[in-house]
Amino acid sequence: MARKKIALVGAGQIGGTLALLAAQKELGDVVLVDIVPGTPAGKALDLAEAAPVEGYNVSLTGGDDYSAIAGADVVIVTAGIPRKPGMSRDDLIGINSGVCKTVGEAIGKHAPNAFVIVITNPLDVMVWVLQQASGLPPERVVGMAGVLDSARFRYFLAEEFNVSVEDVTAFVLGGHGDTMVPLVRYSTVAGIPLPDLVKMGWTTQEKLDAIVQRTRDGGAEIVKLLGNGSAFYAPAASAIQMAESYLKDQKRVLPVAAHLSGQYGQDDLYVGVPTIIGAGGVEKIIEIELNDEEKAMFQNSVDAVKTLVDVVKKLNAEKA
Ligand code: APR
Repeated sequence: MARKKIALVGAGQIGGTLALLAAQKELGDVVLVDIVPGTPAGKALDLAEAAPVEGYNVSLTGGDDYSAIAGADVVIVTAGIPRKPGMSRDDLIGINSGVCKTVGEAIGKHAPNAFVIVITNPLDVMVWVLQQASGLPPERVVGMAGVLDSARFRYFLAEEFNVSVEDVTAFVLGGHGDTMVPLVRYSTVAGIPLPDLVKMGWTTQEKLDAIVQRTRDGGAEIVKLLGNGSAFYAPAASAIQMAESYLKDQKRVLPVAAHLSGQYGQDDLYVGVPTIIGAGGVEKIIEIELNDEEKAMFQNSVDAVKTLVDVVKKLNAEKA
């Protein structure tokens, strides 16, 4: 059986980490593409030279021409600019929407059968832009945010309870921004919902509220610490989990930015919801029951994403 092909558009901090993880897991041959000449080829060569030590049997190449992604099974997009301290994800919209349009067109031309995972921020609107530009079916174009936001939530909860991160499950819905909705009711330690753990005296409501807020601010916390870029290890690991579920038809239940066409009362909008990811891409969008408070928070998040979609539509109209 021929190896799968993983194309990484954007060979920066996240792109390089994606390449390492994809190689270590032997998901397939890896191609890095970036507009900066030298960087993708340099990173690919460096990683190829680590193969004899690490023991992975995949080829790693890089270049600055989008045609290198031809025939890819999975394309992961990080092309664009990251945040600097003091910037919100939304501040990136002008530059990154142009980048996502260009990259989307290139995917439509060279890799129309791929499963596409977008990481570029502001996430939910960038997936929307890229899917439109690519012409690919929406179930094969998704955004990575929920897995990362949930991973942050899980890590903070595991720390609080002094239990393994593996035994903490958590759900985060909505857009990848300050309005994201960590769902306390649906998050558990080994199946015990968080509200029960408060009742059991494992934590207090105040501490739980603080963890929810820290999850919402998780990206900004890293941006502030790094001082010259944004998070890359956990975002890369999260996207690789999504790619693996697609490539191996694992049917993992993962929160991703998926295209809604009626679900949750939304139409033609990308936003974070629980999905099943398998060989068909997004095989199912899971519509969970939300209580009134959760519904209001989700709607607030949806409205924030819609505002950004309108900004992009206006930018496009000005350019036309
Ligand atoms: N085509 C290909 N690559 C591009 C393009 C383009 N049109 N425009 C920019 N790039 C490349 C840059 O040259 C850079 O190498 O995208 C790469 C982005 O890498 P970093 O600046 O290191 O950013 P990174 O930390 O990887 O984050 C990428 O993901 O989480 C989001 O907010 C983050 O939008 C940012 C993206």
